[in-house]
Amino acid sequence: MSSYTAGSREAGRAPLPIDTARTNGENWWLQPLLTVILLTAFGIYATYRAFENTYFCYPWVAAGAMSISDAHRAVESATYLSPLFSPFIPISLSLGSYVVSPAFYILIFPGAFRITCYYYRKAYYRAFFWDPPACALAEPRAESRMKYTGERAFPFILQNLHRYAFYAAVVFIFILSYDAIRSFIFTGQDGRSHFGIHLGSLIFVLNVVLLACYTFGCHSWRHLIGGGIDCYSCSALSRTRYGLWQKVSFLNERHALFAWSSLFSVALVDVYVNLVARGLITDLSII
Ligand code: FES
Repeated sequence: MSSYTAGSREAGRAPLPIDTARTNGENWWLQPLLTVILLTAFGIYATYRAFENTYFCYPWVAAGAMSISDAHRAVESATYLSPLFSPFIPISLSLGSYVVSPAFYILIFPGAFRITCYYYRKAYYRAFFWDPPACALAEPRAESRMKYTGERAFPFILQNLHRYAFYAAVVFIFILSYDAIRSFIFTGQDGRSHFGIHLGSLIFVLNVVLLACYTFGCHSWRHLIGGGIDCYSCSALSRTRYGLWQKVSFLNERHALFAWSSLFSVALVDVYVNLVARGLITDLSII
């Protein structure tokens, strides 16, 4: 690789005087391209569902949209509640003629958690900003980008609030665990509740497991568990923290895997609830 231009500390970031240091012809563009496609698709889908604001729980008792109070009653007696609408907040807020979908009160929290996630930051900085798009590649029009200040100035300095988004995400794990437990309680034709296992129940459990693996593999959590300590063997507490840190590290090493799989599972649960609520598919009964 050619050497960097001298005096870069004073001048800002050093320009890379070649287009790439890669020599193996690797398809480096594939990963950023997939990231753009998948994040854009999920963003459009979740936004569409939030605006659509219907068929988000099962059973759904009306043909189409309901008033907020009717929807609240439906959610309270439902077996399945889409994670995009959980917890359901029955606030009727209007902006002109538009009634704000309750999904928007919720999506802001998991949305902030993912947007500020260290893994996703790497992925979307590369995919959307091309800054640079992959390792050992020059930035496009690098000279015009020398004003980039990393995460030291607004708006990217807000990424440092990730730890607080993590606290909110943990609360959501408990809420979605409750929803997963509820997915095993069905109402019979006689109006009585009974235990059952349906395909939907299994999808709900899978979703909360993947979300928990993603959330508790968080770098902030790993630091809270095992950081700021000088000796891992000096006390029972520090030994316990070391053991927990190792477990968190196991998840942390697979953070990208759980980031994507949990994103897919959230979409999968919502699609499933949507389809069974519309009567387009039957919720397969296992027990
Ligand atoms: Fe990814 Fe915290 S670093 S969720």
